[in-house]
Amino acid sequence: MTVTKELQDTIQAMAVRGKGILAADESTNTIAKRFADIGAESTEHSRCCYRSLLLSTPKLGDFISGVILFEETLEQSCSIDGTPIPHLAQSQNIVPGIKVDKGLTTLANCPGEQVTQGLDGLRERLTRYKSAGARFAKWRNVYHIAENTPSQRALTINAEMLARYAALCQEQGIVPIVEPEVLINGSHDIDSAAVATEAAIQTLYQALYRHGVVLEHTILKPNMVVPGKDNGTKVSSEQVADYTLKVLRRAVPAAVPMIAFLSGGLSPAKSDAYLSAINQQEAPWVLSYSYGRALQQEALHAWGGKEENWQEAQETLYRRAALTGAAQRGAYRPEMENTD
Ligand code: 13P
Repeated sequence: MTVTKELQDTIQAMAVRGKGILAADESTNTIAKRFADIGAESTEHSRCCYRSLLLSTPKLGDFISGVILFEETLEQSCSIDGTPIPHLAQSQNIVPGIKVDKGLTTLANCPGEQVTQGLDGLRERLTRYKSAGARFAKWRNVYHIAENTPSQRALTINAEMLARYAALCQEQGIVPIVEPEVLINGSHDIDSAAVATEAAIQTLYQALYRHGVVLEHTILKPNMVVPGKDNGTKVSSEQVADYTLKVLRRAVPAAVPMIAFLSGGLSPAKSDAYLSAINQQEAPWVLSYSYGRALQQEALHAWGGKEENWQEAQETLYRRAALTGAAQRGAYRPEMENTD
């Protein structure tokens, strides 16, 4: 199969109405924090059990078309029946993908800003990940809103890294998810979030163009445009949809097939309400989800690190995935939260 056909097939399998991506690619440090919240210890075995639980949820493929895995998980086997995790995903009609960046470090000469690492040796790692079953990848940049940030220097450097990653992925027949996340931390208003998000995305597409990345074979994973979490102003779902779509229409070429939002610390109900409002408007892209916390949070608590809660956790995940799938179709209503 040609690389182009491979990339096209992967996009086609992922950009499906009523479905989206489950981000289950927390780094070892991040998952340890999530497990600490439920009083569970983070070990290679407990992480494997939890991620096996997620991916063996009956009929998860009804609402999930792709899953982002962490490197460790890509090489693990299901704690129940020993199926390699990527095969478990495939058996549910879920495309396996992999987080390939190596996390954040501070950016020299840019106080308060960060850059994402992981380009060294990436070509070789991608070959290995592909043999293990990964068909798409993810790289996340972050931008902090404060008085003097994000700076043009941080925007440009980070965009350049994302573009180099994306070009390498496409060379290997792996669809790159490009994630320029403007963080929700801070007390900024929604207008500042819109300005920073537009700058981050505009700068990214200039870099993707410079590096010859084929936009039709990429997925954008942006934040929704919302006020900072310490801002205090209430916004409606319609306002979030208006702001978010205004930014995306200005900054994202129509050739991009799929935009899959991150949840970024928003509650599951808010993430779904906003996504649903976004999907009530016309747009040239499939507008979907690639949620980590918003999809997993309730299931993680239902599990609580205990084997006896396995089934309840799976039912909880299925229910949230169904609500999020409805949001992708613009059909989520807050009343649907209380149907038990
Ligand atoms: P959240 O939805 O929890 O923000 O996670 C998505 C993600 O993959 C961040 O890189």
